[in-house]
Formats: sequence, structure tokens, C-alpha cells
Amino acid sequence: MMNKPVILVGRRLPAAVEKRLQRDYAPRLNTDDEIYSADQLVEFAAGAAAIIPCHTERLSADVIARLPDSVRAICSFSVGYDHIDLGAAKARGIIVTNTPDVLSNATAEVAMLLMLAAARRAHEGARMLRTDTWGDWSATGQLGIEVTGKRLGIIGMGRVGQVMARRARGFDMQIHYHNRRRIDADLEAGATFHADLDAMLPLCDFLSIHCPATPDTTGLLNAERIARLPDGAVVVNTARGAVVDDDALIAALQSGKLFAAGLDVFNGEPHIDPRYRELDNTFLLPHIGSATRETRDAMGFRALDNLDAIMTGRQPRDRLT
Ligand code: DGY
Repeated sequence: MMNKPVILVGRRLPAAVEKRLQRDYAPRLNTDDEIYSADQLVEFAAGAAAIIPCHTERLSADVIARLPDSVRAICSFSVGYDHIDLGAAKARGIIVTNTPDVLSNATAEVAMLLMLAAARRAHEGARMLRTDTWGDWSATGQLGIEVTGKRLGIIGMGRVGQVMARRARGFDMQIHYHNRRRIDADLEAGATFHADLDAMLPLCDFLSIHCPATPDTTGLLNAERIARLPDGAVVVNTARGAVVDDDALIAALQSGKLFAAGLDVFNGEPHIDPRYRELDNTFLLPHIGSATRETRDAMGFRALDNLDAIMTGRQPRDRLT
């Protein structure tokens, strides 16, 4: 019998996904779920045909250059691929895939959660109850901003952005979006396209970020752009921390230019800028956009479908290089 291909798995994956891996391959599982360093990734990849990383494993140009020749594929357990140097992988003939589609609902749910929680000051209210400091009901206390009927600007109208727009329409929100290109009218469903992001910002009572982190989008939400938002706007980010300039966002939250922010992703995760913690008008979550049982299984199976295709000489569905 032929030896099963060795697969280096970056993190602990859902049980059903690891079970399928064990059935079809010889996986090197990360049972301790520690985050591998660059050196460990290179060392543990010895003899492996493929790597399944999460966004926590940085496959930089340097790491990719040091990978053994046996590695033919990197099938990421993530839709984002800013942790992988695609150019370096391509140059070495390594196929890279991601897991789009399957996490759109879960991520849009968290974006809605952040938007509602930030607007309704959920962090402060929850803290009052947990610390037994609720001074009783008040007609003027704990006033937030109503979401219903407001204008929502979406940066990045891909799969997650489109689901977010659908959910927000359930709150009668008027949808504006900025994207590299206008999407088809049936997908737009009445949303207003803005080729110029700066022209859209003054129309956004709420702004939700859904674009990938690329050299073009790094620091996209900077001080100048925040200044263009209406006073008292709310910013939501479920994409990547790199899209936001932390100094600018924190200054706008401190000054009251922005009413609040709901954030699931951060620069330097898991060590976020501590100033976010000190602000009452932030609602913070630890990068759980895709963290539902259903979605994490689906992400794993999607990564394995891509791996299976590559290992049997077929075209993987989600090929990036
Ligand atoms: C993704 O899939 O990119 C999520 O951020 C989790 O990694």
C-alpha cells in the first residue's frame, strides 16, 4: 500500500476535521495547539506534502523560502490570506488555497453583534450587572444610538459584506458600499455603490469593514477618513486589524468624534493596543467572526477538499496561486 502523504497541521482543528485527515493522510497534528514559530514551521514541515495553517501561522517569504521541496501546497484554514506571502509561494510552485463562502454568515453575524452592541452600549450595561453597580433603571441613563433605519457604509462588498448588507436590511438600514468594482445589480439589491471611498464616508452613520488586508488597504481607515464620517458614527471591524490606524481610531473614540466602535480583529493580536480596553465606548471580541461549530467544521472540510484536489492532481476550488 502507498504511504499516505504527510500533512503538517498548524493548529488544533475541529475533531471531525482531524478525523478525516487521519483517515486520508498522515497528519502531523498540533495537539498542544501552540503557535509554531518560523523555525518550527520549517522543521515540522520536513517531508510534508502540504501544510494546513490558520491565520496565526505566518508563512512569510523567508519561511516559504526555507520550506522543504516536498511541500506542494498550503491549504489555509481561513478566508484571509494576509499571513501567506503569495508571491513567494508562487515562485516556488506551491499552490495556496483558502476557505471562502463557508464563513460569511458567521462573520456577518458577529459584525451585526458588534454594530448593535456598540450602538447600544452593551459593554457598559453588561459590566454594571457583573459588578453589581447597576444604579436602577433611568429614563436618561445608558442611552445609545438606534440602528434601525440608519445609513450603513460597507467597505468591501465581497461575500461577507453582501451577507452583512442583507442582515442590515432587516433593520431597515440604507446600504452604501465601496468596493474595487461595482457588483451586479441583483447582488446590490438597492445598495448604493461609491467608487470613491472618501465620498461615501460622510453618508455613513455606521461603517463596517469587510475588505481583506493588503498593502493597499493597510491603514485605510486613518485620521483623514475618520474625520469625513458624520460626528457620532460607529465603526465596526470584522476583517483585519491592519485596515485600521489604531492611533486615529482611538483618538476619535476618546474625543467623542465617534460614538463607539465594535471590534473583533486587531493589530498585533492577541496583544491588542491596551487603550481599547480603557475606553467605555468600545465593544471588543477576540477574533471570533468564524467561531461557530458549523462554520469551523465547514472551513476544515473546505480546506480538505482543496487538499484532496491538489493531492490527486485536480484543480482546487479555492486556488490563490
Ligand atoms: C479568516 O478565515 O480569515 C478568519 O479571520 C479566521 O482566520
